[in-house]
Amino acid sequence: MVKCRAHRMLAGIGKNGRLMNEDYLKTAVDVAREAGAILREEFDRPLQISYKGDVDLVTQADKRSEAAIVRHLTQAYPEHAITAEEGSGRESTSQSEYRWHVDPLDGTTNFAHGYPCFGVSIALALGDTVIAGVVFNPFYNELFAAARGQGATLNGKEIHVSRVASLSTSLLCTGFPVHKRLANPNIHYYWDFTLRSHGVRRDGSAALDLACVACGRFDGFWEFGLQKWDTAAGLLLVEEAGGKVSDFEGKPYRLGGPTILATNGTIHEEMREVALEISRRDPASPLRR
Ligand code: IPD
Ligand code: CA
Ligand code: CA
Repeated sequence: MVKCRAHRMLAGIGKNGRLMNEDYLKTAVDVAREAGAILREEFDRPLQISYKGDVDLVTQADKRSEAAIVRHLTQAYPEHAITAEEGSGRESTSQSEYRWHVDPLDGTTNFAHGYPCFGVSIALALGDTVIAGVVFNPFYNELFAAARGQGATLNGKEIHVSRVASLSTSLLCTGFPVHKRLANPNIHYYWDFTLRSHGVRRDGSAALDLACVACGRFDGFWEFGLQKWDTAAGLLLVEEAGGKVSDFEGKPYRLGGPTILATNGTIHEEMREVALEISRRDPASPLRR
């Protein structure tokens, strides 16, 4: 009985047939728009930057955006837990298995340099399964949204991953962390994938990278050591747009796992084989540890 209920919930269907994942998505969209308006306003103002690490920036915008998101979600769902990057989240007051993963500003470095590739990423997970997610770039007014079982959209229009058939004709994207930079092996992968594809873009926002795979602008994305709030919404966008998300070993991607590979599905195995080949050559690869 409990299993049936859980199954209905993941499929997004309430007891009375109501589409519950869509209801959560509607809240996530409203919250993302509210936070996006704050980011847009802050983008035009003089910056107040502080540092969490050597090159790990945090701005007034990250903090204001997060405060608004946490306030709004707490009002809407007081029993849900919230994990938010800048630390103002909350634990569940009940036994609720719902948890929101919030990146109030993904692409802070871009934001701080006036490069308009940044956004809000908000996702709701039930246990380990993401059931609703939104990524919003307020500068270009692009809102990507997905509810599990309901497909993915960009500004309300259905989106799909690309049909690019091979790595050699693909356009890829990746990112580099702002902490423990020397320990990150990605430069080796960047080099190799660049030579084997039409190119690799490094745009500085993992959430938008994943959204761009979902809508077919990019054909594949990989990165190391991303946090749950970076990927939760984006992974659902890719899956609901018909793509595939795994770790480098081909196992289902676990939120917060050491590696992520998200593709249009068609080039997934090819990318994975290349990633494994590089990791066999590169002693610094996390796959060898
Ligand atoms: C960063 C971005 C970037 C990725 C970094 C993240 P932040 O998030 O998503 O693309 O390469 O690993 O930390 O710090 O701008 O929220
Ligand atoms: Ca982030
Ligand atoms: Ca952030």
